[in-house]
Amino acid sequence: MAFGVYVHIPFCAHRCDYCDFATWTDRGHLVEDYVNACVADLGHRHARGEVLEADTVFFGGGTPSMVPAAQLTRILDAIPRTDGAEVTVECNPDSTSEAELALLAAAGVNRVSFGVQSMRTNVLAILGRTHDPDNVVRAVDAARNAGIRRVNLDLIYGTPGETIDDWTATVEGALRLEPEHVSAYALTVEAGTPLGRDVAAGVKPAPDDDDQADKYGIVDDLLGTQGYEWYEISNWAKPGEECRHNLVYWQGGDYLAIGCSAHGKTGPRRWWNLRTPERYIAAIRDCATPVAGDEQLDPEGRAAEARDLALRLKWGIPVGGVDPDVTTELIEMGLLTLDDDADRLVLTRAGRMLANEVVIRLQH
Ligand SMILES: C[S@@+](CC[C@H](N)C(=O)[O-])C[C@H]1O[C@@H](n2cnc3c(N)ncnc32)[C@H](O)[C@@H]1O
Ligand code: SF4
Repeated sequence: MAFGVYVHIPFCAHRCDYCDFATWTDRGHLVEDYVNACVADLGHRHARGEVLEADTVFFGGGTPSMVPAAQLTRILDAIPRTDGAEVTVECNPDSTSEAELALLAAAGVNRVSFGVQSMRTNVLAILGRTHDPDNVVRAVDAARNAGIRRVNLDLIYGTPGETIDDWTATVEGALRLEPEHVSAYALTVEAGTPLGRDVAAGVKPAPDDDDQADKYGIVDDLLGTQGYEWYEISNWAKPGEECRHNLVYWQGGDYLAIGCSAHGKTGPRRWWNLRTPERYIAAIRDCATPVAGDEQLDPEGRAAEARDLALRLKWGIPVGGVDPDVTTELIEMGLLTLDDDADRLVLTRAGRMLANEVVIRLQH
C-alpha cells in the first residue's frame, strides 16, 4: 500500500470569496518559523520511526507557491522518498514564476496543481479571485518550461451568474493548455465566507442543482472526447496520469500530516494537527505534540468507509458485498452499472451526481 505525506501551507495573498480552507492572509511574517516547525516536526517523527519512505508528497494550502521555493525545498529534503515518488505543489496562477518552479523541479517536484477555477474574467470576479485567464496560460507555460511534467487544473462550476457558455469556454480553455489532469468541483457555498453571507442575504442566488448537473455533463463530455477518463467523481486524467496522492486517501493508504490543520491516517487511527500556524509553531518549539485530536474507527466503520470511498472511483466496489435487492434497485434507477466482467458495481454519470444518495441506500 502506498504511503503519502501531506504538508499544509496556510498562507494566501488574498482570501477568495468562497473559500473556508485553513489559510490566513496576514501571517506572512510567520513563514520562516513555520517552515522550521515543519522540518522539526518531520525530524521528531523520523526519530520515532513514523516517517516511512513516501510514494507521494503533496504541498497543499492555502497557497504553497507563496512560500519561496528554497523554503519548500527544506521541507521536501526532510521527507525520505521512493524512487519516482510523486511530488505535487498547489499553486495560485498569479503567484507562480518560472524561476521558482525551476528550483522546485530541481528539488524533486514533478507535479503542479493550479487553482484556475474559471477561464472567464466575469466569473473569476464573482469568485473573488485575483488572477485573470492570461495568468493561467502564463503559469502553465512557466511550469512546462521549468520541466514540470504533470499539470493539474482545478475548475469550479455553478458560480452564481456563470452561464453554460462561460463554463463551456472554461473547459475548452483549460483543454487548450493540455493538462494531464483536471479536477472540476461544484461550487459549495460555505457559511461564514463572503459568498455564504451574500447567498444567505439573498444578494446572490444559491447554486442551482440542475445547472450544476448540466455543467457536470458538459465537463465529462468535453474531457471524454479529448482522451481524459473520470477516475473519481470530480477528477479526470489522461491514462496513467491519475493523482497518486489522492489515490492514497481514496484507497485506504496511510499518510502523515505535517503543518497546522493537516489530517493524517495511521492504520485504523485518524488524527489531525492544531488549527492555527501560531499554535503549531509553539507546540513544535516546546517539544509538545502538534496533534490536536484523533479517532479510531472500529472494523465495521472502517469497512463502510473503505466502501464509500471506493464507490467514488472508476473501479467501483465488488458486487458480492451488496444486498442483491439494493443492487437491482440502483441499477434500475440508472445510478449503478456492472463493469465488463460483471463483478464490480460502478457509478453511472447520473450516479456520480447523486453519489451521496447511493451511499445512503447501500447502508440499508
Ligand atoms: C487549496 S485550493 C487550491 C490552490 C490555490 N489555493 C488556489 O486556489 O489557487 C484547492 C481547490 O479547492 C477548490 N475549492 C475551494 N473552495 C471551494 C468551494 N467552496 N467550492 C468548490 N471548490 C472549492 C478550488 O478549486 C481550489 O483550487
Ligand atoms: S481558494 Fe486557494 S487562493 Fe483562494 S483563499 Fe482558498 S486556498 Fe487561498
